[in-house]
Amino acid sequence: MARILTGIQATGRPHLGNLLGAIEPAVQLSAQPGNESFLFIADLHSLTAIKNPVELEQNTRAVASAWLASGLDPEKTVFYRQSRLAHYHTELTWYLSCLTPYPMLANAHSFKDKAERLSDVNAGLFTYPVLMTADIILYQADYVPVGKDQKQHLEMARDITESFNRVYGEVFKIPAEVINEEVMTIPGTDGQKMSKSYNNYIDIFLPENELNKVIKKIVSDATPLEEPKNPDTDNTFKIFSLVGTPEQVAEMRKNYLAGGYGYGHAKKELYEAILTRFSRHREIYNYYFENPEALEKQLKIGEEKAEAVARKTMEEVRKLMRFA
Ligand code: TYM
Repeated sequence: MARILTGIQATGRPHLGNLLGAIEPAVQLSAQPGNESFLFIADLHSLTAIKNPVELEQNTRAVASAWLASGLDPEKTVFYRQSRLAHYHTELTWYLSCLTPYPMLANAHSFKDKAERLSDVNAGLFTYPVLMTADIILYQADYVPVGKDQKQHLEMARDITESFNRVYGEVFKIPAEVINEEVMTIPGTDGQKMSKSYNNYIDIFLPENELNKVIKKIVSDATPLEEPKNPDTDNTFKIFSLVGTPEQVAEMRKNYLAGGYGYGHAKKELYEAILTRFSRHREIYNYYFENPEALEKQLKIGEEKAEAVARKTMEEVRKLMRFA
């Protein structure tokens, strides 16, 4: 029995990169027989950036709705908000913090990148990887499906966990990341990694006309319509190849190479492919987002299950630390 675990921050509606890079792979892994999964909303992590409780609550609802829209089955999965188990997560974070070398955190790419760009560089942002480690090992996860940007965080999680086991006793499993090569870095509308912070993301839950506008903004070069184009260097084609069917992708590649096919044509096909592939997602998303009670019911089921597992782990931890 393998235990799968992953979380999505509550920074807003998950974008195409989150869906293809983490949510869908995690839901697929969860559905495999013999796997057990813990899928959650990392709302405590989002406090590093969001201070408005109403906004954070809305974002949490959006992420939870997106998980359910992507096929998460709350009966078979442990589905929860990290904040509802905050006492366990934060207690373990403190124990782990005292085993985490300062230079390890100071070298985190994600911290360095954010510290350069953001005006609010708080201690939470700095110790973020320790909370992430606690999230993972509290539930004794074996595998953590994530996008490539989380690889270093998983390396730190392993180091921190090994320190705990060495100092206090072998209580925790050592987690491994699962990074699916095809979707490890979904490009955004400007070709960089798709990210909220770069404002280059595609939100598949937008109303149709707004979605179309975002797709029209995808950056392309100035090759004239009649001329052949290189699909492998074009952002629209790259994104299309992740959402279209294999036949559609092969057809678009042929059109690029043949010439007489413009980027505008490709964008129109991308827009239609997104609407087709995600039409059911959009319906389910809207249902849960607009029915907070139905959503709450699903989360409560998971939070009870998560509580039992987290409590058991923390009982063992406290015993080892002679706090109980
Ligand atoms: P977050 O919320 O930034 O992103 C959620 C997941 O989406 C993946 N992702 C992408 N994958 C491919 N292409 C992209 N352009 C792209 N953008 C984002 C991320 O790699 C991630 O898997 N620290 C985590 C949240 C977290 C967590 C955890 C994850 C908190 N605790 C425990 C796993 C286990 C984060 O900020 O992800």
